[in-house]
Amino acid sequence: MNILVTGGAGFIGSHTVVALAEAGFTPIILDDFSNSEAGVIDGLESILGFRPVTYTENCHNPETLRRIFRDEKIQGIIHFAAFKAVGESMQKPLEYYDNNVGALIVLLKTMQECHIPHLIFSSSCTVYGEPDALPVTEKTPVKPAFSVYGNTKQIGEEILHDTVSAGIPLKIIALRYFNPIGAHPSAAIGELPRGVPNNLVPFITQTAAGLRTSLTVFGDDYPTPDGTCIRDYIHVLDLAEAHVAALSHLMKTTASSYYDIFNIGTGQGVSVMELIKSFERVTGVSLNYSIGPRRSGDVTAVYAGVEKSEKVLGWKATRSMDQALVDAWRWQVKG
Ligand code: WQD
Repeated sequence: MNILVTGGAGFIGSHTVVALAEAGFTPIILDDFSNSEAGVIDGLESILGFRPVTYTENCHNPETLRRIFRDEKIQGIIHFAAFKAVGESMQKPLEYYDNNVGALIVLLKTMQECHIPHLIFSSSCTVYGEPDALPVTEKTPVKPAFSVYGNTKQIGEEILHDTVSAGIPLKIIALRYFNPIGAHPSAAIGELPRGVPNNLVPFITQTAAGLRTSLTVFGDDYPTPDGTCIRDYIHVLDLAEAHVAALSHLMKTTASSYYDIFNIGTGQGVSVMELIKSFERVTGVSLNYSIGPRRSGDVTAVYAGVEKSEKVLGWKATRSMDQALVDAWRWQVKG
């Protein structure tokens, strides 16, 4: 079965291309390379033994989508293509709403027109905001977003829900990712933050590699055991495999209109300091870090309730955080 992976040259997208191929699907990549590099396709070829068909396109033009759907006989879509930098979204709201929401609407309308039924949508734990209780489950109320990026994910989920509620024949799953980290063990693909990383683990590995002078811990005065924020860090390959499980679930679903939401995390909360200490332990590299002020928009703690994904999708994370840090470090060192 041919699956279009929009944003398939990105961090999570490229690892999902690997998981799809290993599960017997044929992944077709659509990516405008605005936040990824052509070298990712070379990395995928070295892992897969074949070069995935790749279109350097975005999802804004229905005619482009129609042509790809037809020519590649697409039967399902995994939609990663979106801007994802929380801070940047506050400076460029119109670009974020256009790309993350406008293009989603074009994609849905063109899927309906071309009778493509299956869609997996990238959502994020950011929709929970600062949760009142932990772990968060899929029933935990969504809170007003802290950022434009987070709002585009909430709006995206509402659009999917309303589309299916109208009886439009689409079968859709939204996956709420927690914090993806790590890289493929071959180090042929990994996280490629352009410029200054936004996320913690690439900051750690770049500091450990001497590319950055030091790491700043954004606040140690939170109401947590060691004062630093708590997150649910999941190996990117576990996250990738969750997409295959979700797609397989959709294919088995007989309803013509279907929408559901799943948390994709490990269910374990880990603090910034615990992650730093784990990195030093598994790599033997001592990290130069200092404590700085809190970063605006950070939530104190969020980690996933994972029962629904395990029960309905038959999926759970299997890789440890240590393994993810070893893989992230191998990817960094390879350079
Ligand atoms: C994790 C923790 C920081 C960098 C964001 C998005 C989320 C998803 C993942 C897209 C926080 C601390 C970080 C640093 C630090 N993105 N930190 N020093 O903010 O949980 O989630 O990325 O889907 O939607 O919101 O991830 O890795 O930026 O931060 O102390 O140099 O590490 O304060 O507590 P976050 P993160």
